[in-house]
Amino acid sequence: PPVSIFGVPTDVGAGRRGASMGPEGLRVAGLVEALLGRGIDVVDRGDLKGPKNPWLGPAGGYRHLDEVVAWNRAVLEASTVELAQGRMPVMLGGDHCLAIGSIAAVANHCRATGKTLRVLWLDAHTDFNTSQITPSGNVHGMPVACLCGIGPEPLTGLGGHVPATRVSEFRQIGIRSVDPDEKRLVKTHGLDIYDMRYIDEVGMRAAVQQALDGLDETTHLHVSFDVDVLDPTIAPGTGTPVPGGINYREAQLVMEMIADTGRLGSLDIVEVNTALDHGNATAELAVDLVESLFGKSTLMRD
Ligand code: ARG
Ligand code: MN
Ligand code: MN
Ligand code: MN
Repeated sequence: PPVSIFGVPTDVGAGRRGASMGPEGLRVAGLVEALLGRGIDVVDRGDLKGPKNPWLGPAGGYRHLDEVVAWNRAVLEASTVELAQGRMPVMLGGDHCLAIGSIAAVANHCRATGKTLRVLWLDAHTDFNTSQITPSGNVHGMPVACLCGIGPEPLTGLGGHVPATRVSEFRQIGIRSVDPDEKRLVKTHGLDIYDMRYIDEVGMRAAVQQALDGLDETTHLHVSFDVDVLDPTIAPGTGTPVPGGINYREAQLVMEMIADTGRLGSLDIVEVNTALDHGNATAELAVDLVESLFGKSTLMRD
């Protein structure tokens, strides 16, 4: 489908400033030109608007909850419009809290059209915290829980359907940092996690094959790409880096295997923090990987 790009210049869900510059970093790295170069029908719709970052501490277990809700309403609305027009929304973060809005919109779209939803969550973190157990109060650590109905009503009910998604619709790849109580919660809910140890043991190919198992023509595949899934030595420009991430070849393989399914329906590219980057290297790497996600490969394949 044709692609619609939106910048979501927010860092209200994060504990460090600077992810708000991610959309511009990705544009400067040539994201739009890269997709045009692949022959894709793409429009950059510019940046969504939302409240500025008040830079306050957590209140009631959440930092900046009202601002997070406002940004997510904008994301939900924009994604909903694009999906209804048969277009593929691509949200440039911004911090990962924006996935509440983008995925709530996709889940509604799937309900309306009878499609099956699969979310591929590429991340160092499970982002399954709640206000009770979060060590930080940062809502970018909570989007998966919120989508699955665990969280504050303005976020769990954002798209009008609670829960927006089922845990069984998610597959998480690259995980290597889960907070102590969050561990218990992901276990209780049975989140399907391909963590770094699993990837080390069976290899990225087998892990991705399993995570993408069972897709068919009725599947809408949403990819939520948190750049901190990548090893910080190749992607230093992110607010919560964790050592031991996926390397360049593994990252290319995931993207190429997703492209091969032909099911990609929507995408988030989040947590690019240009204030922490070396030059614009992290955004440049993300663009390189997104080219693969949209079908770039070394040879002709069939
Ligand atoms: N688990 C930590 C927290 O909840 C880090 C979350 C990082 N999330 C992210 N999208 N970068 O504070
Ligand atoms: Mn994340
Ligand atoms: Mn992360
Ligand atoms: Mn560079």
